[in-house]
Amino acid sequence: MEQQQRFDQTIAAESSVEPRDWMPEAYRRTLIRQIGQHAHSEVVGMLPEGNWITRAPTLRRKAVLLAKVQDEAGHALYLYSAAETLGADRDDMMDKLIAGKMKYSSIFNYPTLTWADVAAIGWLVDGAAIVNQVALCRASYGPYARAMVRVCKEESFHQRQGYEAMTVLANGTEEQKQMAQDAVNRFWWPALMMFGPCDDDSPHSAQSMAWHIKRFSNDELRQKFVDNTVHQVHALGLTVPDPDLKWNEETGHYEFGDINWDEFYAVIAGQGPCNHERIEARRKAWEGGRWVRDAASAYAARKQNAA
Ligand code: ACO
Repeated sequence: MEQQQRFDQTIAAESSVEPRDWMPEAYRRTLIRQIGQHAHSEVVGMLPEGNWITRAPTLRRKAVLLAKVQDEAGHALYLYSAAETLGADRDDMMDKLIAGKMKYSSIFNYPTLTWADVAAIGWLVDGAAIVNQVALCRASYGPYARAMVRVCKEESFHQRQGYEAMTVLANGTEEQKQMAQDAVNRFWWPALMMFGPCDDDSPHSAQSMAWHIKRFSNDELRQKFVDNTVHQVHALGLTVPDPDLKWNEETGHYEFGDINWDEFYAVIAGQGPCNHERIEARRKAWEGGRWVRDAASAYAARKQNAA
């Protein structure tokens, strides 16, 4: 049987493609692009929240935030490893991130101005990530799908802790409640943008769906997130910053207003409020950590030679 035919059958049978299996070059490249961007998002995603570790309002909040940020580093490690099973080189991916040749999620280019933003990231951003990533647990590439199972379990904890922190603020003083509302106002639309362009403007979706990498379209997942989240906003006594939001009895879904796609495309082109700062932080960490990587490699080589 031809290699391509065998691959097509694996996809059609919902079996997983494994690292040693033959796969079309374009499938491999698409996965390296998506998994690499995903890994970079986890790493860059540590920055907006890490910004609040020293300023968390209580010791308990600090301990939880430290653990959460550490989890995100772990997610990046699973994802870089999954990309390596496809032949990608980790140093090369990192160089491309720093050179602006590989993307990371748009959401991490927004600043965390108050403590409520940290709660909003846990609840809304990780909530949106879960909607996207639960679908990826069934992605056709085995190492990616398996990494997603653990990532989703941890993201669920992140989402709940974010919602719990938001509950405290929303039920606190008038000032705290306003802080919570302000965070929702600023993070709502960028969270919706996380799902990517509208289906009609998404160049990769059709092929990625055919390969069973993506199981739902960008718009389907965005709708799921809105449907899941609106009642949570209301349960907090807060409002969704969208005058066009309304429940459609017939479709059983919320209708929502237009997304500012100009803003989205500007952010992914490197012109968001924090793009420069984020890449600069990664560059400093990558260069500053070089001696650690060199020392670890030298130690590993010495041990191997001694064996
Ligand atoms: N931020 C940055 N870039 C984006 C975003 C976004 N929110 N959405 C889409 N893009 C980019 C795509 O990467 C692609 O760029 P490229 O061609 O230079 O690679 C371009 O916009 C067109 O988009 P699509 O054709 O829709 O791309 P794709 O099929 O890859 O779908 C999606 C985008 C949904 C983000 C997909 O890649 C995905 O599911 N990725 C895994 C999840 C992920 O990366 N999550 C990160 C945030 S979650 C977290 O870290 C907590």
